[in-house]
Amino acid sequence: MNDINILVTGAGGFIGNNISRYLLQNTKHKIYAADIKFDERSDDLLDYMNYRRYDIDLTNTDDFFVIYDNIKKIDIILHLASPIGVNNVTNNPSDTFVNGTLINNNVLLLAHKYNSKIIFTSSSEVYGEGKIYSTEEYLKIPSANTEIFGRGSYALQKLNFEYQLKLSGIDSTILRLFNVVGKDQNTPGMIIPTMINDAITKGSITIINNGTRSYCSVKEAIKQFYEVINDIIEEKFNDNFRIFNIGNPNNSNIKSALDIAEIVFKELKLPVDIHYENTNNEFNITARILRDHNKYNNNCEINVENIIKESIDFSLATNKLK
Ligand SMILES: NC(=O)c1ccc[n+]([C@@H]2O[C@H](COP(=O)([O-])OP(=O)(O)OC[C@H]3O[C@@H](n4cnc5c(N)ncnc54)[C@H](O)[C@@H]3O)[C@@H](O)[C@H]2O)c1
Repeated sequence: MNDINILVTGAGGFIGNNISRYLLQNTKHKIYAADIKFDERSDDLLDYMNYRRYDIDLTNTDDFFVIYDNIKKIDIILHLASPIGVNNVTNNPSDTFVNGTLINNNVLLLAHKYNSKIIFTSSSEVYGEGKIYSTEEYLKIPSANTEIFGRGSYALQKLNFEYQLKLSGIDSTILRLFNVVGKDQNTPGMIIPTMINDAITKGSITIINNGTRSYCSVKEAIKQFYEVINDIIEEKFNDNFRIFNIGNPNNSNIKSALDIAEIVFKELKLPVDIHYENTNNEFNITARILRDHNKYNNNCEINVENIIKESIDFSLATNKLK
C-alpha cells in the first residue's frame, strides 16, 4: 500500500493523541483525526500538513458528512473511540454500552464504505473469567455488584464488536490493551490520574482492591501499534482476523494500588491519608496478558515512579484536575 490514509477515531484521547503524534513524526501517512472533543494535548499536531481534525460525534451518522465530504480514501481505521473511563462504565453502564455499540456499528459502516482495514482497541476486560470480575482499577463504587454490572457491560460491548468484526470479513486486528499509562492520561477513573486528583483536591486516597497489577507505558504501547500498522501495510498477515494483547507481563517493583498512592503523597509532599474499601477480588493479570501474548510485546520496560512524577507535573501544569 502506498500513500496511506489512516482515520483515527478517539484521536483526541490519551492513546489516540499519542499514536497520531508518533505516526506524524515517523511516517508520511495522512492522519484523519476524529473525536467528539479535542483538547490542548493535540493542538500542536495541527501544524502538520498531513493531519486533519474532525469534531464529530461517532454515535450520530448525521455528523459523518464531514468525513464523506473530505476524505476520499481510508486505508486503515484505527478505532479507539469509546465512552470509557471506569467512572462512566460503572455509573452509566447502559449508556456506555449503547453509545459504545452505536460508535462501533457506525465505524463498521465507514469501513464497508471505504473498504478499510480496522484496528480495534479492545480491552483486557473481555477475559473476565473465573472468580475474577475486576481488573481492580481504582473505583469509587457503591458496591461490588455495580462494578460487576458496569465492567461486565463494557466487556460485553468490546467482545461483541470483536465478534462482529470476525463475522464481517473486514481485515481486522484486535489489540486488547492492559493498563496503558502515561503522563498525559486524564481518562476519569484510571488509577494514576484519579489518585493524583484525589490527593490534591481531597487530601485523601481510597483504595479499592490492592492486588497486584501490571502497567504498560504508552510509549511502548505506541511502538507496538506502529509495528502492527506496518505489518498490515506490508500485508504480512495470511489471515484477515487477529488478536494481540498489548500489555506488560513483566513484574514491576510498583505493583499495587498502595504503592502508587504512597508515591503520589510522597511526590506531592502531602501527609499520607489512605483508606481501604477492599472487595477481595483476586486475579492474575500476567496470566491474562500472556494468553494472547504476541511478537510485538518484546520490550515492556516501564518506570512507574517516573510516570507518576511526570503525571503530577502534567496535572498541575495543565490544571487537568477533575
Ligand atoms: N488506556 C488503557 O489502559 C486502555 C485499556 C483498555 C482498553 N482501552 C481502549 O483504548 C481506547 C482508547 O483509550 P484511551 O485510554 O485513549 O481513552 P480516552 O478516554 O482518553 O479516549 C477515548 C476517546 O474516545 C472519544 N469518544 C467517546 N465517545 C465519542 C463519540 N461519541 N464520538 C467521538 N469520539 C468519542 C473520547 O472523547 C476520547 O477522546 C478505548 O477504546 C479504550 O476502551 C484503553
